[in-house]
Amino acid sequence: VTRPRLIAGNWKMHMLAAEARRLAADVATAAAARPSVQVAVFPAYTALAAVREALAGSRVFLGAQACHEADHGAHTGEVSAPMLADAGVSIVLCGHSERRAAGESDASVGKRARAALRSRLRPLVCVGETLAERDAGQTDAVLARQFAAAFADVAAPELDAIDLAYEPVWAIGTGRTATPETAAAAHASLRALLVGKFGAAGRGPRILYGGSVKAGNAAELLAAPDVGGLLVGGASLDAAQFRPIVESVQEPST
Ligand code: 13P
Repeated sequence: VTRPRLIAGNWKMHMLAAEARRLAADVATAAAARPSVQVAVFPAYTALAAVREALAGSRVFLGAQACHEADHGAHTGEVSAPMLADAGVSIVLCGHSERRAAGESDASVGKRARAALRSRLRPLVCVGETLAERDAGQTDAVLARQFAAAFADVAAPELDAIDLAYEPVWAIGTGRTATPETAAAAHASLRALLVGKFGAAGRGPRILYGGSVKAGNAAELLAAPDVGGLLVGGASLDAAQFRPIVESVQEPST
């Protein structure tokens, strides 16, 4: 069984509750028009409750941008996976490059993915190289290192509940989108890592592309081999830009 394409909107540190509620309602309308596509939004923690209400009865999954590796404890300012599940979240980003840049280590990303799985949240594990790493020819080595740490404690049957996102850091927020060929090469590397570690089960997870996805490049990225969806930042903040990205999915993933 192949999973449907996933179009995900990472709202990052944007949107007060009232705006988030309006945007979520528009995303729900867009998702209703494309029943073969899965859609998820990742609001800030403070907007989760409002967005949960706005999405009630819709097909859109409620996501969170990170979770802590512990279920509870003396971790001021952090939010745990059980708290997110309690808030109605079903999917959580693990290891977004902006979190890694703020100090999340490779090993911590693995622990956070485990915490998500413990709380029956779906980890969307983000990996990707910087421009300096790409220029130094280290892209595959970086992906391998990030993958190994993130999946260190994952067992093959758990892959049903996990997806990945390839987000080259040089493409995030820069307007410099990876070409479909560049994305496909990285996705092929990640797929080889999955199958190398998990065998046939490694074919299951979707690998989303993220980094300057817009309505104008979504279709060609989705047409590239093994692009299982898109993780959209800036263009997910405006329904008029996000809706055509959702609508650019033409057929079920193969
Ligand atoms: P942009 O689409 O704004 O480049 O952001 C990508 C991203 O980081 C999504 O998680």
